[in-house]
Amino acid sequence: MARTPPGPRSLLPGRLLRTLQRDPIPLFTRLARDYGDASMFSVLGQKIVFFNHPDLIAELLVAQNRFFHKSRVLQRSKIVFGEGLLTSEDPLHLRQRRLAQPAFHRERIARYAEAMVACAARTRERWRDGEMLDVHHEMMRLTLDVVAKTLFGADVGGEADEIGAALTQLVDLFPLLMNPLAPLLQKLPIVPSTRRFRRAVERLDRTIYAMIEARRKSEEDRGDLLSMLLLAQDVEGDGGGMTDRQLRDEAMTLFLAGHETTANALAWTWYLLGLHPDVAEALHAHVDEVLGDRLPTAADYPRLDFAEAVLAESMRLYPPAWAVSRLAMQDVTIGEWLVPRGAVAVAAQAVMHRDARFWLEPERFDPSRFSASGATRSKFAYFPFGGGPRICIGEGFAWMEGVLLLATLAQRWRIELLSRDVAAQASITLRPRGGIAVRVRHRV
Ligand code: HEM
Repeated sequence: MARTPPGPRSLLPGRLLRTLQRDPIPLFTRLARDYGDASMFSVLGQKIVFFNHPDLIAELLVAQNRFFHKSRVLQRSKIVFGEGLLTSEDPLHLRQRRLAQPAFHRERIARYAEAMVACAARTRERWRDGEMLDVHHEMMRLTLDVVAKTLFGADVGGEADEIGAALTQLVDLFPLLMNPLAPLLQKLPIVPSTRRFRRAVERLDRTIYAMIEARRKSEEDRGDLLSMLLLAQDVEGDGGGMTDRQLRDEAMTLFLAGHETTANALAWTWYLLGLHPDVAEALHAHVDEVLGDRLPTAADYPRLDFAEAVLAESMRLYPPAWAVSRLAMQDVTIGEWLVPRGAVAVAAQAVMHRDARFWLEPERFDPSRFSASGATRSKFAYFPFGGGPRICIGEGFAWMEGVLLLATLAQRWRIELLSRDVAAQASITLRPRGGIAVRVRHRV
């Protein structure tokens, strides 16, 4: 008979809750150190089982995934995402995933590369030599621009900007969603930020629905993600496409899921490059060698392998999605451990990626770990994009985007950190608390 994992007895609920909200990573790190590969604690009656071994994580996300649902935090975000890919459960999830998948095929992603580079080129033209910037804010702006253009079309101009503006408002208000009282607050229009939130959702809905209607009429393939979703037919299933509501939910999901994660990955990358000038120099030499003076294209992506290794190593140390969690729909045995029905099972990239059993000198920033001849490691010792049936659908998109943006900016600019002291804030994603202040220097 499997038994529940060991765990702390004496944590005060109030303190535990505050720690979980404010600074959960050290808590999970301590649990792994004190109790090993599986541990359990409970807070306000909610059991949380934490797994910290690649084999157990593989079981959770792949082999036994069908016994779990997305946990409550995400369930709550349905206010905005509706029944999009991130939040839906089977059988709807399976159908939507089949419909959306072609939009993320390799050839299709290559077509978005041009828009990605164009956005980065605009950013690098805007920067001024010696200027002080918050590079996290800059990366948020840039990836928002990229997702607006690739999702809704490079040629929509005004509309993409309007959507961008409404979404920025939503993103700002996003933490509200994660407030345990969110479903209640939403019903109370007197709370100003909630009213703003609802207005932002309504505005966005109006714009997205208008675009969907116009495109349904014209039946033209504009080459962007929205066109792909509109044209998708579920040939393996019922043969049908998506309703307007489903299209809206998926568009909203891709927009929010696709922009902050990539922005954080890039922001942390600049931070690490600022801390390690030798690696920054190697990156500059690499992009000069591969690209010379011209802007990168999708065809350059495979040759920008060092830029990719830098990004990979940055996501090891600062995984933008710092943990994944699942709600057990029944009693499930993972390894030798029982996850009781109703418990939330957690796997934390932020902890696993720094586990000395799987990483030599885990605290050291060393992109060569990810070079082509790199050591073989067990699959779930590194899982920035999750795994199993719910693995990030945007993974290929994110690698292409991250590498091309990094290369385009690094061609012209080097950065100097104004503060080396930047703390990670584990909210929905792993953000740099207070941003990352830098001075940008034009490369001559
Ligand atoms: C560095 C960038 C990114 C990281 C680190 C990341 C990470 C993740 C992770 C860990 C998951 C799985 C969550 C879970 O299992 O609970 C996920 C799911 C997802 N991601 Fe990403 N993501 C990134 C970029 C993107 C982009 C660019 C898009 C879209 C354009 C995207 C769209 C999605 C969607 C739709 C899902 C839900 C998939 C499903 O459940 O079927 N992500 N992402």
